[in-house]
Amino acid sequence: MVGMEFQDVVRRRRMVRRFTDEPVPPQAVDRMLRNAVRAPNAGFTQGWAFVVLDTPDGVARFWSATSPRAVAGAGADGVGAAGGAGEGDPGAAAEAGAAAEAAGGARENRWLTGMRTAPVVVVVLTSREAYLRRYAEDDKARASAQAAGDGDAPWDVPYWHVDAGMASLLMLQTAVDEGLGACFFGVPPGQVEALREAFEVPDEFLVTGVVAVGHAADPAPREGAGGPGAGASPSGGSPTRRPRRPLEHVVHRGGW
Ligand SMILES: Cc1cc2nc3c(=O)[nH]c(=O)nc-3n(C[C@H](O)[C@H](O)[C@H](O)COP(=O)(O)O)c2cc1C
Repeated sequence: MVGMEFQDVVRRRRMVRRFTDEPVPPQAVDRMLRNAVRAPNAGFTQGWAFVVLDTPDGVARFWSATSPRAVAGAGADGVGAAGGAGEGDPGAAAEAGAAAEAAGGARENRWLTGMRTAPVVVVVLTSREAYLRRYAEDDKARASAQAAGDGDAPWDVPYWHVDAGMASLLMLQTAVDEGLGACFFGVPPGQVEALREAFEVPDEFLVTGVVAVGHAADPAPREGAGGPGAGASPSGGSPTRRPRRPLEHVVHRGGW
């Protein structure tokens, strides 16, 4: 289904971590990018940049750049995961011992095997320096001085990553609207430099994350009963292990 109701796009969106080999229409990727740059962004700085990898060679180079050389439990091709099952999951951090490590390694392998099937990978980059330059301009300088946060930035919040995240969400939603699936994931700090080198990313740009795109290999889950796993992505992820927090736990009307 292409061109859905907005509420359907929001409800259907799940991180997709396994894809079919059906090619992604280039117009769909173009629309994801055109929508991405309509995202709200601080000072209209637009400090983002996107490296689009839509050929088998480009995608393969992405995975080889972002995979550690030697990882316990690495896949048959000897590489590990980029973002992977870790994703800062506190449960994973709490795990200890060889059994947990082996389980984590297996999960990471499954993650990588699935993610490598994505025919398109978009690396989302952002320039902190672009924001500092923008907020030194005449129409922003006074507000920046008044706000005066820590260090040389006028805010405590890294707007460069916030904005790249907003652009990424628009890409994810547009993918759903195009009948595609996508997954946003992070690149571990140890792999960022290799990624930057492989694709000649200028020093100024930081990696916010990556959006993998393709046709979902698994059918979308049925909306329905609550509890962990309900409505979770069939290709795994934290929602298979933890429930969505109820609105009344997170919304504080009129004050905390
Ligand atoms: C900042 C951020 C980082 C994420 N990193 C990863 C990752 O490294 N690997 C992964 O598989 N998913 C990653 N995710 C996806 C989340 O696991 C997912 O959005 C969350 O569990 C909710 O599931 P849903 O998006 O399918 O509804 C990330 C999402 C965000 C917003």
